[in-house]
Amino acid sequence: MSLDKLNAALTTEIKALQREGRAKDPERVITGYLEPEGDRGPRYRLQGADQLFIRMNSNSYLSLSNHPKLLEAADRATREFGVGPGAVRFIDGTFKHHIELENRIAAFLGRPAARIFNSAYTANLGLAMTLGSPETYWIGDQLNHNSIIRAMRIAGVPKENKAIFAHNDMDELGRCLDNVPAGIKRVVVIFDGIFSMRGDNAPLDEIVRRCEPYRDRFPEGLVTVIDDSHGIGAYGASGRGTEEFTGARADIVVGTFGKAFGVNGGFIASSAEVVEAVRQKADTYIYTNPLGVADCAAALVALDIADSPEGARRLAHLKDRIAQFRSGIERLGWESIPGPHPVVPLLVRDTARTRALVRHFYDNGVLVVGLAYPVVPRGDETIRFQINAAHTEADVDQALAALESFTG
Ligand SMILES: Cc1ncc(COP(=O)(O)O)c(C=O)c1O
Repeated sequence: MSLDKLNAALTTEIKALQREGRAKDPERVITGYLEPEGDRGPRYRLQGADQLFIRMNSNSYLSLSNHPKLLEAADRATREFGVGPGAVRFIDGTFKHHIELENRIAAFLGRPAARIFNSAYTANLGLAMTLGSPETYWIGDQLNHNSIIRAMRIAGVPKENKAIFAHNDMDELGRCLDNVPAGIKRVVVIFDGIFSMRGDNAPLDEIVRRCEPYRDRFPEGLVTVIDDSHGIGAYGASGRGTEEFTGARADIVVGTFGKAFGVNGGFIASSAEVVEAVRQKADTYIYTNPLGVADCAAALVALDIADSPEGARRLAHLKDRIAQFRSGIERLGWESIPGPHPVVPLLVRDTARTRALVRHFYDNGVLVVGLAYPVVPRGDETIRFQINAAHTEADVDQALAALESFTG
């Protein structure tokens, strides 16, 4: 068969990943969703398992994915306009839902304009294509999300045109700023708002303060870009994310509708000029079908809810459950990285123990994510818990009881 040689080569590559411990496990398949009942939150059925599971590994922080108003809006939009856009945006694939969602997310973040993408991942790729040039210099946090790292590669940023600072290390950021080579016209300082494996936030106020004196040094300026995919909707007093939490603003915001808002799709929000340049230059915006109207309609309702008393109640409940979980793990003597974000890391600091604990949670009906060596350095092995607004006090107690019963 014509694929024989390629199949063999790829199988060898995958075996190498498996030997290194970097291969992904087979995916678990969700086969059922059970509505909350009594004092318990939603439960999930998995293929091949008899028990029901609490998801403590979902990014859906406000827990809106099954909200009747979102379902109804998606359903109505689909019945009226169909399931697919039929073409890319510039070939009459633009529906009123796209424009409404762009205006709505721009207003939510206090920006003049926004463009939506299929995901935050493709938004980051598109942003790099928009801002990149041989005279652009990139400075990023060492723990930036894969989509930012990949974005710089795809945009062809050469090694000498980028610098990485140690995670949240402002002195190193200062050194990177000092060392921008001669001939650079434009500097982009880019970082996650919330670091998804740790739940800690970028010190945006300090980053902005450090960058300020450098803004006039470059003919095309210096801009800060925050990818607040895990922050927007879930963080800050009203869910405006890391900007609200730190009281500072970045020049360009990247985010997603696929986490706190419970739907799908990414966006870039900034000045009208930046956003128009995105429309003209970002291949991951131009040459691919946009989100369907159902996702847009659902995301619009999610934003309405986030800005309503119901949204405030969900955020308040979320904060209470985070506090309950954090005080529980502290009482049980486990280590974490402090912070009010729904990502709560449990530092296990041992690979075998991490794997055993993930299995123990599974056996006790709780889905969590474990990060073991070599994916993280030895000593940094962690289990990531993600609290969401549908978790009940009893759910959090169940997870804590599982932790307490672990004897490994
Ligand atoms: C910082 C950051 N950016 C982008 C993404 C990707 O988001 P999306 O699923 O919308 O592509 C993630 C998700 O893990 C993330 O943590």
